[in-house]
Amino acid sequence: MSSPLIIIAIDGGAASGKSSTSRLLAERFNLLHVDTGSFYRHLTSELLQRAVPHTEVAAVQTTVSRLQLSTRLNGRSAQMLVDGHAAGDEIRGQNVNEHVSHYAAIPAVRAALLAYQRGQVDVAKQHGFRGLVMEGRDIGSVIFPQADFRFFLHADPIERAKRRAAEGRQDSVAERDRLDSSRKAAPLVVPAGAIDIDSTFLTLEQVVEKLAGLIAPKLK
Ligand code: CDP
Ligand code: CDP
Repeated sequence: MSSPLIIIAIDGGAASGKSSTSRLLAERFNLLHVDTGSFYRHLTSELLQRAVPHTEVAAVQTTVSRLQLSTRLNGRSAQMLVDGHAAGDEIRGQNVNEHVSHYAAIPAVRAALLAYQRGQVDVAKQHGFRGLVMEGRDIGSVIFPQADFRFFLHADPIERAKRRAAEGRQDSVAERDRLDSSRKAAPLVVPAGAIDIDSTFLTLEQVVEKLAGLIAPKLK
């Protein structure tokens, strides 16, 4: 009998290290990496291209309900296709950075992604992964509250802004955190019972070792 898939949820604020940590864990343990932030970014880009403002909630709802979402693999990462198309680099740009938290606060946008995100378990199974590591803002609280591991990555906001600047990217880390934490629908919170890690004074490698040390015994 094949062993059950392991589910690892990683949440945290902007530039807290979720994606880098998740990618390295996925490699180490043969997991599907699912960056749900990239899904919100892709939908944001689609809505901006269609000139549907976040203030027009009904139009946002109609538009997202018509989009066909599918998945292809990009290495070990799940890449969301919208009507058969992958997103470009613009989803990491300033325009999407400035708008994504506004669209992500709309319940219809979150609802459009809910089943799609949970469906990544089947994608992991189909491709022979040992499990999945999914990162975002509401993974341990809403998407997979029963995950085998739920981690929350903290880091001082000044340190996080420095990390983004070091990547040469313009981002309003503090403003996105404020919007993500204060929205009504699935706000950014530390889920009850999650393992809290403060990475302000840790290197990426130290964070990965910490998490991997907790995960490894479960995979024996
Ligand atoms: O990489 P970074 O942490 O800066 O952001 P991201 O993970 O790419 O997420 C971009 C935005 O998508 C966040 O600021 C949230 O507004 C939204 N998001 C969300 O609401 N729920 C998730 N599970 C993931 C992202
Ligand atoms: O996915 P998220 O926005 O949470 O963060 P990320 O894109 O994984 O990390 C942002 C940047 O911080 C990357 O360049 C990482 O290499 C770096 N980082 C770091 O310097 N120290 C850590 N402990 C974690 C990440």
